[in-house]
Amino acid sequence: MGCFLIGLLVIILSIGNIIEEANGEISPKILSNIKMMNKRGPYLGIVAPNNFELNPLLASRAYVPYPSLPFIDFAGRRFRFGNISNQRVVIVMTGLGMVNTGVATQLLVSLFRLKGVLHYGIAGNADVNLDIGDVTIPKFWAHSGLWNWQRYGDGIDDELALEAGGDYTRDIGYLQFSKYNNQSDNLLNRVWYQPEEIFPVTGTPEVREHVFWVPVDKSYLDLARQLQDMRLPQCVNTTCLPRPPKVTIVDRGVSASVFVDNAAYRTFLHSKFNATAIDMESAAVALICHQQALPFVVIRSLSDLAGGGSDVSNEADLFGSLAAQNSVDVLVKFVGLLPTHKSKTHS
Ligand SMILES: *[C@@H]1O[C@H](CO)[C@@H](O)[C@H](O)[C@H]1NC(C)=O
Ligand SMILES: *[C@@H]1O[C@H](CO)[C@@H](O)[C@H](O)[C@H]1NC(C)=O
Ligand SMILES: *[C@@H]1O[C@H](CO)[C@@H](O)[C@H](O)[C@H]1NC(C)=O
Ligand SMILES: *[C@@H]1O[C@H](CO)[C@@H](O)[C@H](O)[C@H]1NC(C)=O
Repeated sequence: MGCFLIGLLVIILSIGNIIEEANGEISPKILSNIKMMNKRGPYLGIVAPNNFELNPLLASRAYVPYPSLPFIDFAGRRFRFGNISNQRVVIVMTGLGMVNTGVATQLLVSLFRLKGVLHYGIAGNADVNLDIGDVTIPKFWAHSGLWNWQRYGDGIDDELALEAGGDYTRDIGYLQFSKYNNQSDNLLNRVWYQPEEIFPVTGTPEVREHVFWVPVDKSYLDLARQLQDMRLPQCVNTTCLPRPPKVTIVDRGVSASVFVDNAAYRTFLHSKFNATAIDMESAAVALICHQQALPFVVIRSLSDLAGGGSDVSNEADLFGSLAAQNSVDVLVKFVGLLPTHKSKTHS
């Protein structure tokens, strides 16, 4: 009898162990939902930075959520399913910065059957020729926050720490803080920009490669050229921008987990890298998609000039929502340009 009870207890406990999963692991229930949704794929993955940009997309009439299973929650993220212009989409919000964005994007591409990734949102502006509300689609993205900070006294001909082993390089260039002195010298010397160490799906595990500028997908970019005559709203209620916002293909964007509200650094990023859009997420999406060999493109509408200085600076709060809405409108229009493929398991 005692043996029987102990046996029963062991069985109950081991069933309990099967059902109870460790935090972070994919539970059997979630896994079966993912499998079910993937049978309807492939999807377009859509990545939004935060609620400010996600909400106007969810509120858009173009977005039709699936009534049967509108979302799957996993790892603190919500993956939403629906259609935009008869394209099946799965939408995820990343949260602020490069780590959040890397995690959310990697989860998206690993869990779901995707044919491509679209990233959208607002960005800081580094180009004085563009204005609040203009929507940029850069050809390249780089992570501009991976630095080798040189010791005081060393010059541009001195090797960086760990440069000889291939860990760091002087190929991309530097920012020299002492060029930006106002009163006196400082000890900050230079930071040298570094390429990302990457491990592409097409490479050998644990054998690193390097990339700085990540190009967006060429066919997505070609499609995006058709958006350049799109008309966007110029006014919020009775307050209007000096000219109607435009959609424009630009050369480059840069991202780092740094909020740039500094005119000197904004000007440097523009003159050194020809950057137009400055944000905290896009290059992370780019780096993940690049390594996973998935096509991607980024649509970022400009909020204020980073660090201030435009004539509509004081209206930035007012036009922030217009900028977010513009990025959604351009995204939706772009999705409508994509060819619809019939998937094998049609529902
Ligand atoms: C979503 O789009 C797919 C593919 O075009 C289509 O087969 C399906 O009927 C659409 N579903 C809804 C709910 O609109
Ligand atoms: C430099 O410092 C002076 C005195 O503190 C200040 O008035 C001036 O605005 C500064 N210049 C810039 C470009 O910040
Ligand atoms: C625009 O006007 C509407 C209606 O008067 C108001 O509810 C809304 O807050 C205004 N929007 C902005 C950004 O001022
Ligand atoms: C810089 O970017 C602009 C558009 O964003 C482009 O017209 C220009 O040719 C680029 N300049 C260089 C030197 O690549």
